[in-house]
Amino acid sequence: MIILAIETSCDETAISVLKADKNKFEILSNIVASQVKIHAKWGGVVPNLAKREHQRNLPIVLKKALKKAGFVNLKSQISNLKDIDLIAVTTGPGLEPCLWTGINFAQELYKNLKSQNSNLKIIGINHMEGHILSVLLKEKSNLKSQISKIEFPAMALLVSGGHTELVLIKDWLKYKVIGATRDDAAGEAFDKVAKMLGLPYPGGPEIAKLAARTDLAETARSVLKLPRPMINSKDYDFSFSGLKTAVLYLLKDLKQKGLTTDDWLLKTNICREFQQAVIDVLIKKTLRAAKEFKVKTIILGGGVAANNELRTQLGEKIKKELPITNYLLPITKYTTDNAAMIAAAAYFHAITCPPSLRSGAGRREKDKTKNLKADGNLSL
Ligand code: KG4
Ligand code: ZN
Repeated sequence: MIILAIETSCDETAISVLKADKNKFEILSNIVASQVKIHAKWGGVVPNLAKREHQRNLPIVLKKALKKAGFVNLKSQISNLKDIDLIAVTTGPGLEPCLWTGINFAQELYKNLKSQNSNLKIIGINHMEGHILSVLLKEKSNLKSQISKIEFPAMALLVSGGHTELVLIKDWLKYKVIGATRDDAAGEAFDKVAKMLGLPYPGGPEIAKLAARTDLAETARSVLKLPRPMINSKDYDFSFSGLKTAVLYLLKDLKQKGLTTDDWLLKTNICREFQQAVIDVLIKKTLRAAKEFKVKTIILGGGVAANNELRTQLGEKIKKELPITNYLLPITKYTTDNAAMIAAAAYFHAITCPPSLRSGAGRREKDKTKNLKADGNLSL
């Protein structure tokens, strides 16, 4: 099955072509046009600017994705599009004007290609499901063996710029959100704190980079202490806006003492402590949820899953406290938004009789082929 997937939920215009069968996912192309530079000067994503950029980028990204995937004839023209079996597009959650741009583009493409392949289908995909299934995108690995590592029940910790969620997965395609952020998402907190520290957008990688500065580590033994919001609350919700405010007060306090973040040692200290505060809360809640629901697999996904400290520390904690639990995480390039993960999720909705899967797969395919609609708050 050849799947062409389109992702425009936020500030990346992404198209991927995935060749999928029960043994293998072959990523024929995975093109991501990032708008980071455009939004950086505003310190965050501006929805209307993002929509305009998606409209501009989509035809270019499509051409690149098709070319890379080998849909070209001897005259270097795009051809053989009849081989595409399924078009997948993100319908939510995300910025609605951006989602609509992707959906309209996908539907137009569907209309054009339907004449070449009457079996062509179109399907809407939840962006968060893409982040979960991004763990199956490995450069060279046997899909069956990857799939066999996802034993149910599973728990996914999804951490991105827009979301922080704990999702209980009872079976293939059966999700239940058991906890979510009450205010800022983890990635959003990284971005906002970075802005306070005068670091560029997106702030997550910048904070992570500074926090990892070993040359400053020896002298930078920190006395700074930031709160770990809701770490001991009985539910599985998160809150990061208080942590962000704590950084703001800390900076004000330091300023009064004549200290500024022009001091790189101080900046490094704040980054390290802030990052650790976020990680501590994420790990504590994930482990507690994993124990309560007796899960066999823990999955980490979303843009913040690119954070090396989070990846490592969560892995170490699982090994220590839940040694027989599988721990799956995407390779770094598939942590942030991309369309290959949307294609992967689409595959599991499209297959009707998956031998290696249980009952749930394919279940939702029928209602997903028509009436695609953007839903900014789409839930799993
Ligand atoms: O999943 P994603 O690409 O987009 C959304 O769906 O929101 O996530 C983007 C978020 C941004 O907030 C960015 O700062 C954060 O992921 N991020 C990181 C790292 N790399 C990206 N946060 C912490 N550490 C990183 N290394
Ligand atoms: Zn995302």
